[in-house]
Amino acid sequence: MDRYCVFGNPIAHSKSPDIHAAFAAQTGQQLTYDKRLAPLDGFAAAVHAFIAEGGKGANVTVPFKLDAHKLANALTIRAQAAGAVNTLLFDAHGITGDNTDGAGLVADITGNAGVAIAGRRLLLLGAGGAARGAVLPILEQRPAALVIANRTVATATALVEQFAALGGEGVLSAGGFGDITGSFDIVVNATSASLQADLPPIPASVFHPGTLALDMMYGKEPTVFLRFAAQHGAVPRDGLGMLVEQAAEAFALWRGVRPDTAAVLASIRQTL
Ligand code: ATR
Repeated sequence: MDRYCVFGNPIAHSKSPDIHAAFAAQTGQQLTYDKRLAPLDGFAAAVHAFIAEGGKGANVTVPFKLDAHKLANALTIRAQAAGAVNTLLFDAHGITGDNTDGAGLVADITGNAGVAIAGRRLLLLGAGGAARGAVLPILEQRPAALVIANRTVATATALVEQFAALGGEGVLSAGGFGDITGSFDIVVNATSASLQADLPPIPASVFHPGTLALDMMYGKEPTVFLRFAAQHGAVPRDGLGMLVEQAAEAFALWRGVRPDTAAVLASIRQTL
């Protein structure tokens, strides 16, 4: 039976094994998928050990996405653009690194939430790894504007420069949280502020009635960002749909079959 796993540290609470088991059952694919705790300084060794055991592919989560990017000997265009890898494929070519996080975000917004990105105004909060992975897949949808706002303005400006030639020209702009003007159709929180129950200091005027406010984080309770957004007329959405969609994208890469995510998202939500 083909073997897959997710590497992380910590990894105990990962929902990926449940998601992939559900995909496998639904599509009739014969595979196993488990979680592996890799030592902080032992990611490459853990991957090589898994390959030696017959592993066919793996997901990679915190804090190893940069290590996975270094380890891969081939990278997809979106993994190159993201500068980080969340999906590995092991075959005769060696180790291929992909990044399905941004595609998962876009699939959740356009598919599950039913909100088009094309021609709309988007605000992306944050300029770290999670934000960087989202930029190219969002630009591919041809938004009217994509504003990247970050606490450290220079990091946001660097992203605009990186993506200028990749569809960002005339669409992308950067600034600090206090520089944001106008309202947006979609606001995505890609900062890690929610982990500390912190709210990026954005003006409430970024929301208009019906703005989709998506936080990449998820949990039993809405994040402080989602509460703030809902108070100002936005439609809140957490990161669980993105999690399931990035998994579906990885599953499709490995197995050549695209699972149906709706039922899986509903059942994973019950486990929060
Ligand atoms: P990730 O992989 O989750 O993106 P990261 O690369 O460390 O993690 O990036 C974290 C992002 O969250 C950054 O944009 C960071 O802002 P800085 O670039 O200024 O550090 C942002 N961030 C973290 N804590 C924050 C907070 N309390 N308020 C606002 N932004 C925060």
